[in-house]
Amino acid sequence: MMLRASRKVASPHVVCVEDLRPLARRRVPRAVFDYLDGGAEGEVTLRENCRTFEDVTFRPRHAVAVSDCDLSTRVLGLGLSLPFLLAPVGYSRLMHPSGEVAAAREAGKAGTGYILSTISGHRLEDVKAGSTGPVFYQLYLMGGRAAAEAVIERARVAGFAALVVTIDTPVSGIRERDYRNGMKELISGNLLAKIPFLPQVLSRPGWLVSFLLDGGLRPLPNVVIPGQGPMPLLDVNAALASSAVTWADFRWIRDCWRGPIVVKGVLTGDDARRAVDEGAAVISVYNHGGRQLDGVPAALRALPEVVAAVNGQLEILMDGGIRRGSDIVKAICLGARAVLCGRAYAYGLAAAGEAGVARAIEILRADLDRTLRLLGCPSIASLDSSYVNVPKSWECRESIS
Ligand SMILES: Cc1cc2nc3c(=O)[nH]c(=O)nc-3n(C[C@H](O)[C@H](O)[C@H](O)COP(=O)(O)O)c2cc1C
Repeated sequence: MMLRASRKVASPHVVCVEDLRPLARRRVPRAVFDYLDGGAEGEVTLRENCRTFEDVTFRPRHAVAVSDCDLSTRVLGLGLSLPFLLAPVGYSRLMHPSGEVAAAREAGKAGTGYILSTISGHRLEDVKAGSTGPVFYQLYLMGGRAAAEAVIERARVAGFAALVVTIDTPVSGIRERDYRNGMKELISGNLLAKIPFLPQVLSRPGWLVSFLLDGGLRPLPNVVIPGQGPMPLLDVNAALASSAVTWADFRWIRDCWRGPIVVKGVLTGDDARRAVDEGAAVISVYNHGGRQLDGVPAALRALPEVVAAVNGQLEILMDGGIRRGSDIVKAICLGARAVLCGRAYAYGLAAAGEAGVARAIEILRADLDRTLRLLGCPSIASLDSSYVNVPKSWECRESIS
């Protein structure tokens, strides 16, 4: 089955990342596809994350000889061959049994980094061991400080390069598709409650067999509650609602980790300045891929305000809506050091496991190379705002006041 999937993702039908999406839809049950594809409430922010890239246009330099394009960059002093990392995608193991391990391995092979979600189906030690690239650990305080302290220590021992603290999840956003598809019932232990939702699962026998052979739904191996063991997946939403990260928690996490921290979830200049003051090493401008507060601006739209507020005091990542290499180039022109890709590689994972992740990365790499050549720009490091036109209305408050 894997071989067939590999052929499929290498076929001429998969020209861009968006082509992986229908393949994912065909391989996994509707509940799993919509968990990956969907966003909060009316999905306005989800759509805007992608659409907003259209508002920024290029200013190419023609008749310029660009022989070899240098796609490398540095984040936190780590050399990356590509200016994107793979973002944390909770419970990737549901999309394919190889899940987080496969994604980390492919990131490493491509010379870039992977960020492992707290809501991982694989042990963090296995994910780190599978990758030759830098791996960061994304932390939620699910399970309280004692569980966090234990996982931080495990991440340190395993050699994780940085901690990523997500600050926009005081409660899980309402993803309406998950409710309609009976996601809660499907992951519950109540067979009667599951029955109405089972046809969508039975209609994907290939996925179902691989899921059952993988041992079915497993508890979260990296969220170990003292005296209770690994947290069941069903408890995640309630655990998130009682474990919002505040700046006071951030200070505690910083003291516990004693290494570089990425703050994930900054959308305003005020929060960006606060993150600088609190000792963050990097911030990621993002809105959780449109999965939390619907109606916040697209991540790209929020980037200029954050860049102006930070004024070079730390590195900035941008995260949300990346589907093409040209999107990555635009975000870097607007001041991001690199970007995080979420669904772009996760569609590949759901479509064809590790081969699908590899294909997504390769498409983005080729896009980046082509875009730089068409722009007449030799390297990612040479990109700046002179390569793009930005709408007048984007002039940020920071620079107006
Ligand atoms: C299915 C799914 C699960 C996610 N789980 C997490 C998570 O556990 N922790 C986190 O910080 N972000 C999580 N995110 C957000 C991603 O890290 C990333 O910010 C987002 O996918 C970017 O938007 P994009 O997918 O449109 O590129 C998740 C996103 C998706 C699609």
